[in-house]
Amino acid sequence: MMVDIIAGARPNFIKVAPIIEAILKEKSEGKNIDFRLIHTGQHYDKNMSDNFFEELGIPQPDINLECGGGSQAEQTAHIMIEFEKELKANPADLVLVVGDVNSTMACSIVAKKLHVKVAHVEAGIRSFDVSMPEEINRMVTDSITDYFFTTSEVANRNLKKYGAEDNQIFFVGNVMVDTLLKNLSRLKKPEIWDTIGLKAKQFFVITLHRPANVDEKNKLKELLNEIVDNVHGFPVIFPVHPRTAKVLEVYGSEAPNLHLIEPLGYLEFNFLVRHAKCVITDSGGITEETTVMGVPCITLRDNTERPETVTCGTNELIGTSAKAIQPVLQKLFSGQWKKGSIPDLWDGKTAGRVIKILLKLSIKK
Ligand code: UD1
Ligand code: UDP
Repeated sequence: MMVDIIAGARPNFIKVAPIIEAILKEKSEGKNIDFRLIHTGQHYDKNMSDNFFEELGIPQPDINLECGGGSQAEQTAHIMIEFEKELKANPADLVLVVGDVNSTMACSIVAKKLHVKVAHVEAGIRSFDVSMPEEINRMVTDSITDYFFTTSEVANRNLKKYGAEDNQIFFVGNVMVDTLLKNLSRLKKPEIWDTIGLKAKQFFVITLHRPANVDEKNKLKELLNEIVDNVHGFPVIFPVHPRTAKVLEVYGSEAPNLHLIEPLGYLEFNFLVRHAKCVITDSGGITEETTVMGVPCITLRDNTERPETVTCGTNELIGTSAKAIQPVLQKLFSGQWKKGSIPDLWDGKTAGRVIKILLKLSIKK
């Protein structure tokens, strides 16, 4: 069984790492499975792409479609055109996509129209907010997916509501957690720790990259000002996503406790998260990692497709208004944050389950 694995953006690399490892293990034991890794090129800076391959031991992609950025339509179309050529020239039995980025949707459509089966890892999650491109990517991808691999019972229910059959849905857990648990003992102190003398549980980490928070400069500055003014002078470390950097224009800030740095490697970033007093973010994946590490997390979004990070984990949704920041930080400083627990099957063994299931299904084009 030849599986084309699609990865395009930062969170994808973290999700495909354990899947590739599980395939290589089964292959080394003589099982009939192999893969090609297709990098769409959606993310391309060294610190948004190559660094993850190096740190997480992901094999070099077999193909890089080098599609890069652009508008929603330009990026999606570019990926579809390039992947269609590739899949026609080198047919696969299955195309496996992860997450909810444009690369996920674009490659699913191409595969399905060439009559190649599609497996979606992290299927079924929904924010029900179609103003976000990711929700459209999730809905479209799941509407043509053949095999759904899910992180939660909520995702299973969503899929059934939209007509997926029980025998297509496999509740396997969370591949992002596989990567985190595997690497917990390898996390690496970033340079900034010593440069500014950080102390465990006495600093904040923030990440922001959602268009609703970062595409308008004044909105972004308002959020940042409200954060730095209400953290009791603690350092705030902000590894700036390139989308956000474009809006901030230059790295540099007037607030003495705000430290803008380049995006970090996975091991350095999660070292910071593990030792932070709190993370403030609009990321999806980071809310799962803080849940697993038991670190308080404040999400600057109106909704989440990952409700278990709130109902079970350490995450709290506060919306995108700067006004909501001061009260929630007051709650954090009063020591009232929930302890949280880890959702079912987020146990580090998910990718192994995915590949065992694919082998049983023995998919042929
Ligand atoms: C994308 C995903 C989002 C995901 C995020 C992870 C979609 C619709 N969005 O958002 O779901 O949470 O990745 O980080 O797929 N850029 C660079 N260098 C890079 C990558 C991007 O400079 O290596 C800049 C480019 O100007 C690009 C912009 O960032 O146009 C946005 O990148 P894009 O991949 O389109 O969307 P993200 O905001 O990164
Ligand atoms: N991450 C990282 N370095 C950073 C910021 C994030 O390694 O500077 C990792 C983080 O640990 C998580 C993933 O990137 O595994 C999340 O990606 P992102 O927030 O870009 O996307 P999302 O999950 O929101 O789609």
